[in-house]
Amino acid sequence: MARRLDAFVTKTVTPEPREGNAPVRIAETEHGMLNAIGLANPGRDRFLAETLPLLRTLGRPLWVSVGGVSARDYAETCALLDDVTIELNLSCPNVDEAPESAAEIVAACRAATSLPLYAKLSPATWDIAGTARAVEAAGADGLSLVNTIRGLALGPTLRPTLARAVGGYSGPALRPVALAAVYACRRATQLPIVGMGGVQTGHDALELLACGATHVALGTVLFADPDAPARVRTELADELERAGFATPDDAVGVAQAAVATVEN
Ligand SMILES: Cc1cc2nc3c(=O)[nH]c(=O)nc-3n(C[C@H](O)[C@H](O)[C@H](O)COP(=O)(O)O)c2cc1C
Repeated sequence: MARRLDAFVTKTVTPEPREGNAPVRIAETEHGMLNAIGLANPGRDRFLAETLPLLRTLGRPLWVSVGGVSARDYAETCALLDDVTIELNLSCPNVDEAPESAAEIVAACRAATSLPLYAKLSPATWDIAGTARAVEAAGADGLSLVNTIRGLALGPTLRPTLARAVGGYSGPALRPVALAAVYACRRATQLPIVGMGGVQTGHDALELLACGATHVALGTVLFADPDAPARVRTELADELERAGFATPDDAVGVAQAAVATVEN
């Protein structure tokens, strides 16, 4: 399946190895999924020595998701990477996603690498458009929108299902949230936007394009349907044709035309 993707995005890599949280780390809900994986990853040294060479055998463009606590953590990992696109996961635990902090991380990474840099933002902020503008000014080449939002599920005995109680909520319920974030950031910046959040069908992908995404990524749907990328691509082509768009680019931002001004 992965060999047919346009690009493959890794799980977030941090400077040190992380075992992640204890189980239960994943819970299904009616309209989405909760995860509290806790950024489990082998750390950047093993990632570079073992994981990345394996991923290269896919023969697909790779996006490496970089995480950390300080701007220096992020920048040091960026400096070690080559021949990939970098996605800065700015929604890591203990990372403040205020525009100034996000911009500080992006600026440090910009100074450390000339590779393409995408800033991945969480929608759980008052002013995502402000953060988008700040990371653009700091040298980001694009935005990835959106990361999960915080959620909690209870089991039959009214105890939290996840061992950590709270986790990141993804899947269909996140779709309107993602559309709003893409919509706001498209108005705020010129940056290309990878839209994601609850995409299950070609129509869902088309809506993200209409709000201003230039690319679409899939996450949660892959658990239920590993062939979703090929299916969504085919469905999107049908949807575009039905709506009278010659290319996906023609659909980008069409939802914007209707409104003159919008609040964040
Ligand atoms: C099990 C799981 C693990 C995830 N791990 C990461 C991660 O390591 N780094 C990151 O930036 N986002 C991570 N995400 C967030 C997704 O990349 C995506 O932003 C989010 O789930 C919304 O898209 P979706 O509804 O299509 O899943 C994870 C999501 C899930 C469900």
